[in-house]
Amino acid sequence: MASVGLKELIAVARVIGSGRLQRHAGKEPSFTTRFEAALKQKLNVKHVLAVNSGTSALVAALVGAGIGPGDEVLVPAYTWVSTAVACLAVGAVPILVDIDESLTISPEDIVRKITPYTKAIIPVHMLNLVCNMDAIVGIARKFNLKIIEDACQAVGVSYKGRRVGTIGEVGAFSFSQRKNLSSGEGGAVLTHDDRIFSRARIYHDVGSHVRDYEIEGNEPLFAGLNMKMAEMAGAVLHAQVSKLDPLLKRLGRRRNVMVESLSKSRRVRISPHHDASNAVGLSVIFEKPEEAEAFGKQRGVQWLIETERHVYTNWIPVLTQRTFDERMNPYRWAHREISYSADMCSTTLDVLRRTCNISLGAEYPLVLMQGHAKQLLRSLA
Ligand SMILES: Cc1ncc(COP(=O)(O)O)c(C=O)c1O
Repeated sequence: MASVGLKELIAVARVIGSGRLQRHAGKEPSFTTRFEAALKQKLNVKHVLAVNSGTSALVAALVGAGIGPGDEVLVPAYTWVSTAVACLAVGAVPILVDIDESLTISPEDIVRKITPYTKAIIPVHMLNLVCNMDAIVGIARKFNLKIIEDACQAVGVSYKGRRVGTIGEVGAFSFSQRKNLSSGEGGAVLTHDDRIFSRARIYHDVGSHVRDYEIEGNEPLFAGLNMKMAEMAGAVLHAQVSKLDPLLKRLGRRRNVMVESLSKSRRVRISPHHDASNAVGLSVIFEKPEEAEAFGKQRGVQWLIETERHVYTNWIPVLTQRTFDERMNPYRWAHREISYSADMCSTTLDVLRRTCNISLGAEYPLVLMQGHAKQLLRSLA
């Protein structure tokens, strides 16, 4: 995650000193507006809309892309539960798709899960890893599907020279505690598309009619929620943007050290990566679950089957199809019966049982990580 220190402290102090805690409370460009501009430039994307969480970003992105009641959205079976719940929030239903050894959505299984009602795919770039976007874009074009990238766990990461979140029609970032940029809570919608941006912006501000931007675009106002980013979060994030690329560089260097060390073991494989030369995340895969379980006990290592609501079998509200009121339950108006079961994505469970993620420790000096890499290798002897 991004380091948080004096720069962020000064930024927050400036917000408090100014008395302007809300982005729309003054005439001068707010910190939040300046953060959006800085991120736009860094990511080379036309629009960035700051919101109050990654979940909000996904919901606003789906609304922006016109996904709604009756639509089926393809979601990987390994992602934070928000990805699936966001679909329900707009009246659509999530259809679970297996991941492959790369820990990202399987293009083969995407094709198997497409029905006449499928409207969108949400590829999720988990753990700073990247999806096979070439294949996903190809499928989306062929079947006329929208791509909503969930880049909540991969802010700033590149796939073949483009930043994830800016490749599909629309993308979502999270800035919660352990993300590459963090304001505790926060998120952003990214898009090159004027209409998607306009719709997401209307939705995130209660369908507001009091802002200057009402006059932009031809989109009629519609009801939304308040998903606006607080100015203190905007200030923290504005202070952090310049730290993003150095952070990713540090992660990349530490990954190289780890890969070099762990490649010497015959007991484990480095998980496949869709753009290995730019990789900033690392996971390893074993033959047997017991081996992964044992390795997962090492410091800085996480056995992925034990990551709670990242694994679809723990998505209780989704699996039980329960919403706050039965009359607002999207499964009622789905075009076909949708059923889920604990073993429906068995490939995903098999991969997660055999895979561990390795924390790359950007906050530690490289020599420490070199020592840690050797220790991890020794643990595999
Ligand atoms: C893959 C993924 N999607 C969506 C979210 C939701 O983001 P937030 O917690 O900011 O709402 C997260 C958060 O961790 C995430 O990891």
